[in-house]
Amino acid sequence: MLSPLSTLGIALLALLAPLAPITHASRTYFYVGGNYTLDSNGEHIHSGQIYVEKLTPAVVTQPHPIVFIHGQAQTGTNWLNKPDNQPGWARYFLSQGYECYILDQPFRARSPWQSFNGALSTYSAEHLEQYFTATEKYNLWAQASLHTQWPGTGEMHDPIFDAYYTSTVPFVGDPATQEAAMRDAGAALLEKIGEPVFLLGHSQGGLMAWAVADSRPELIHTIIAIEPSGPPFVEAMWGGGPARKWGLTDTPLKYSPEVSNPETELVKTTVPSNDSDRFDCVLQAEDPPPRRLANIALIPVLLVTSEASYFAQYDWCMAGFLRQAGVQTEHVQLADEGIRGNGHMMFLEENSDAIAELLHGKMQRYATGGGGSELRRAQGVMEI
Ligand SMILES: *[C@@H]1O[C@H](CO)[C@@H](O)[C@H](O)[C@H]1NC(C)=O
Ligand SMILES: *[C@@H]1O[C@H](CO)[C@@H](O)[C@H](O)[C@H]1NC(C)=O
Repeated sequence: MLSPLSTLGIALLALLAPLAPITHASRTYFYVGGNYTLDSNGEHIHSGQIYVEKLTPAVVTQPHPIVFIHGQAQTGTNWLNKPDNQPGWARYFLSQGYECYILDQPFRARSPWQSFNGALSTYSAEHLEQYFTATEKYNLWAQASLHTQWPGTGEMHDPIFDAYYTSTVPFVGDPATQEAAMRDAGAALLEKIGEPVFLLGHSQGGLMAWAVADSRPELIHTIIAIEPSGPPFVEAMWGGGPARKWGLTDTPLKYSPEVSNPETELVKTTVPSNDSDRFDCVLQAEDPPPRRLANIALIPVLLVTSEASYFAQYDWCMAGFLRQAGVQTEHVQLADEGIRGNGHMMFLEENSDAIAELLHGKMQRYATGGGGSELRRAQGVMEI
């Protein structure tokens, strides 16, 4: 418990923080999670551990650290400086006094991949141009033309695009394998940190945040889901068809009443969007009553959607699914907050600090009440 005096000190420091021109942070790293498995020679190889970089500001003024989980083909560098060499989100949040934990997902970048972890895939430069950096030149969805915030042309041979594309890495394509590994490694990380965190996941890292949250809800203060992979139950952009059979994930989530076969027990219905710019939405049916996400509903969720991303077509459905399953969800649509022209990689774009500032303001509200601890107390769940 903080004394009233130190609380006042922290409030004063938080007020002064925006004036600080440069943030000096100390930097350490560690590996956590994974386990020894036998190789074909009967000898041991350690696999599944994650690389974690811990950045600590000179003065920690925030009671809850942030854990950042990057998306598909990305690494923890997403949160450091941006491809245009401007400071990224880590620098912003450090300047606001948050400890930052930046990980590389299992089997990726500095978290080692072994051949028995599964086949690797890679995104082409064209894929990133079309979906992330130059969406306005392809117009593959209605909102794509609104994209203005990527620095440079967003195309191959532009130095900023090249700096970004060359930072991307191969990834294990099977979502269930990745979720299972990240669920375990993320739980090990949260146990090591030992106090409730803001768990921030972007895109495919958002799937990972659901899996980790389902496993250790008591160690998460608030989930910040930046365009988490979706929508529930189906593929939208990538040709349709079933996906994420547990609603949010491919791997089991704890529901109440419990679910053992999601295909039959999660009864679904399609809600039309009535809007040609948005996908229809598969939700749980109202009869029988929708099942609750027993663990994830112990944590408030900030769902963040940019104006021009392909997620603008279906994050409305993600918000609906979460609320229906009992999750306290605030859907932050950047355009409604006056933050225009962003795509899916919003934290690498020109106005990344404006988005971080908006989130910081909202996180402050959660930190001073209404976070996971409060929700859990209200639901009569024991605090750690
Ligand atoms: C090792 O880790 C994998 C992936 O997280 C998990 O599936 C497996 O059960 C673990 N094995 C042991 C012996 O803990
Ligand atoms: C679209 O219209 C139908 C029929 O009126 C309604 O049931 C449904 O809720 C509407 N969808 C949205 C997203 O409002």
